[in-house]
Amino acid sequence: MNEVVCGDSLDELVLFPDEYFDALVTDPPCGIDLRKLTWDTDYGGRDGWIEAHRQIFGEVLRVLKPGAYALVWGIPRTAHWTATALENAGFEIRDVVTHVFGTGFPKGESLDKRIDRAAGMFDERPVIGEKEVLDYGANPEDYPTLGGKGVRLPRKIVPLTGPASPVAKRFAGWQTSFKPAGEPWILARKPHGTSDARAIIEHGCGALNSPECGVDGTWVRNVVMSHAPDCADDACAPGCPQLDLGKAARFFPIFHHSAKPGAKERHAAGSNTHPTIKSIDLMRWLVKLITPPGGRVLDVFGGSGTTGVGAIMEGRQVVLIEREPGFADICRRRIALAEAEMGEDLLL
Ligand SMILES: C[S@@+](CC[C@H](N)C(=O)[O-])C[C@H]1O[C@@H](n2cnc3c(N)ncnc32)[C@H](O)[C@@H]1O
Repeated sequence: MNEVVCGDSLDELVLFPDEYFDALVTDPPCGIDLRKLTWDTDYGGRDGWIEAHRQIFGEVLRVLKPGAYALVWGIPRTAHWTATALENAGFEIRDVVTHVFGTGFPKGESLDKRIDRAAGMFDERPVIGEKEVLDYGANPEDYPTLGGKGVRLPRKIVPLTGPASPVAKRFAGWQTSFKPAGEPWILARKPHGTSDARAIIEHGCGALNSPECGVDGTWVRNVVMSHAPDCADDACAPGCPQLDLGKAARFFPIFHHSAKPGAKERHAAGSNTHPTIKSIDLMRWLVKLITPPGGRVLDVFGGSGTTGVGAIMEGRQVVLIEREPGFADICRRRIALAEAEMGEDLLL
């Protein structure tokens, strides 16, 4: 039975017996004050964050079968905290699956502007032209409803300025961070205390689904890729990672959808305001990779339920735990729609 539980995972996991789930696929907070979301940082700094997540992952360890795999999202800056929390909870860290995409946007002001500001010369920056920028308007909360394939976001024209101070001129065009193009999914495993083969015989989980997730049906590579939002079936748009890879792209699983879902996918079961929604295609692949057919997958940071939708579409059973009642409601709607769409194909 698929289930959405509303509550804190640390409290709610006691409802489940030992060795109940075949896999964990989850997208936890990342501790960087992501878009000022309280769930992300309210643990009292690095050590508090790791300890709070160790406690949750400790309970997850109990409810997973021996040898079961976990795929846990991280952001490059703090994925080591997530991995530490998993390891401190008793998981073995096995690998990292890198999800490559072309939709990430660098955040913040350009370096030469920041240097001019710090040097007190911002007002002296010469106007060297004009440029078009996205106009999010006065209400940033509209953000989740913007975008999607074929939707032209509002734009405005602003003056383009050049560096003023000598240091800003020297570092014009340099940056202090990357354009995000890859995110890690940490592959961890509950120790089984025996050989892999014996653990799989005894518990029926703990293998990687090469036939369905590997490009050539043998080995799964630990890189997975998404198209840019404007790619068509027969031609990629600028910014798509496939264009950079050229022929080598054939070695990697590539989703014909962007890393961030468009409005149609986001709102398919009614309004979905979750700010960090993942794409269904990605979650389907991750669930399918580590959960045996018909198996039971757990997500302890359910959000708006994309792991659940992916699991149902892949014929797996799912339990989602989500702390915020509004998001838990969205999970329930999306799960119900996925179940209805799968109909008789559901292997429950
Ligand atoms: C990064 S989001 C997951 C988004 C999800 N992958 C999706 O596609 O919608 C993390 C979610 O975990 C929830 N959360 C944070 N701490 C939690 C906890 N201790 N127990 C249950 N849910 C929690 C937050 O409310 C948030 O919705």
